Amino acid sequence: DGTVITCSAPVNIAVIKYWGKRDDELILPVNSSLSVTLHQDQLKTTTTIACSRDFQEDRIWINGREEDINQSRLQSCLREMRRLARKRSGDGDPAHGVAGLSHKVHICSVNNFPTAAGLASSASGYACLVYTLSRLFGVEGELSAVARQGSGSACRSMYGGFVQWKIGERADGKDSLAEQVQPETHWPELRVLVLVVNAQRKHIGSTSGMQTSVKTSSLLKHRAECLVSGQMDKMMRAINTKDFSAFGELTMQDSNQFHATCLDTYPPIFYLSDVSRQIINLVHCYNHHYREIKVAYTFDAGPNAVIFTLQEHLPEFVQVVRYFFPPESNEEQFLKGLSVDSVPVSESLKAAIGMEPV
Ligand code: DP6
Repeated sequence: DGTVITCSAPVNIAVIKYWGKRDDELILPVNSSLSVTLHQDQLKTTTTIACSRDFQEDRIWINGREEDINQSRLQSCLREMRRLARKRSGDGDPAHGVAGLSHKVHICSVNNFPTAAGLASSASGYACLVYTLSRLFGVEGELSAVARQGSGSACRSMYGGFVQWKIGERADGKDSLAEQVQPETHWPELRVLVLVVNAQRKHIGSTSGMQTSVKTSSLLKHRAECLVSGQMDKMMRAINTKDFSAFGELTMQDSNQFHATCLDTYPPIFYLSDVSRQIINLVHCYNHHYREIKVAYTFDAGPNAVIFTLQEHLPEFVQVVRYFFPPESNEEQFLKGLSVDSVPVSESLKAAIGMEPV
């Protein structure tokens, strides 16, 4: 009598970062944020949920290991999805409701990329959990508020393309929702490259990191109250008009400001490594060589770089990275799954970057 549903949800990369909550329980942010959702077949979580009357209790496995189903964020999502399913089924009696609603669930979730390496696994993970539950229970409609209660950034992975998470005004969080700014078809030349600097687990998770920032950083307060809303407007304009130079500059500035608030946090939080900083430097030299922003970086709560560029610059930039960070010199697989044309890097560009290969 059981049902099994499998869905997947992609990672999103914030170009205006979410950092800090005004309500820890409901996960309400101190500022709006904006991200790019990757394609479905790239970095993603795939979740299978089975329900059966034979199951004694809800259980969850993440990347093959059983985890505690009683974690409060998991419970929030499960409780909320079951409540919505009951509401939809009408009379509130689970026995008369949607198939499986009275049954326990077994959840199995896998990422095709390193978990907790600052690559937003909680975003795709909770988005996928909520979406798969919605298929299982037959719930439709706005679900970003449920995903948000799993992990803030997860609400943005409920939509494709360019997505904003609006801060909202209400204390109950009902208006703190994700909304698509432009669909995935809007800017087909845009490319996202992940440079895995270190695939290990990060030291300070975003949840506790942002708590400390909210408590101690006056820069974060200034950022949230005065700076972000203007940057959001500019970013939306850059996206709407496909102005890469503006998009790239705003993205890099926001990443730098986020890491500055981490440094302004007390005790300070360091997410960037020496290699991260070398990548930042390399990007600025590359752009300087072209006298225009052709490539942009952004870093989340970890040392890995996410690079944005347009297709016309992708092959060359990949070669530049390969030249200065030869894959052999790194035990990790530095460039993952790339098939790009091999183009030579000009001597003048190498000189412009002005560093020795690592
Ligand atoms: C730096 O969404 O992981 O990636 O809401 O506590 O689960 P919680 O935090 P999380 O924070 C993401 C922080 C970020 C920026 C971003 O994605 O906007």
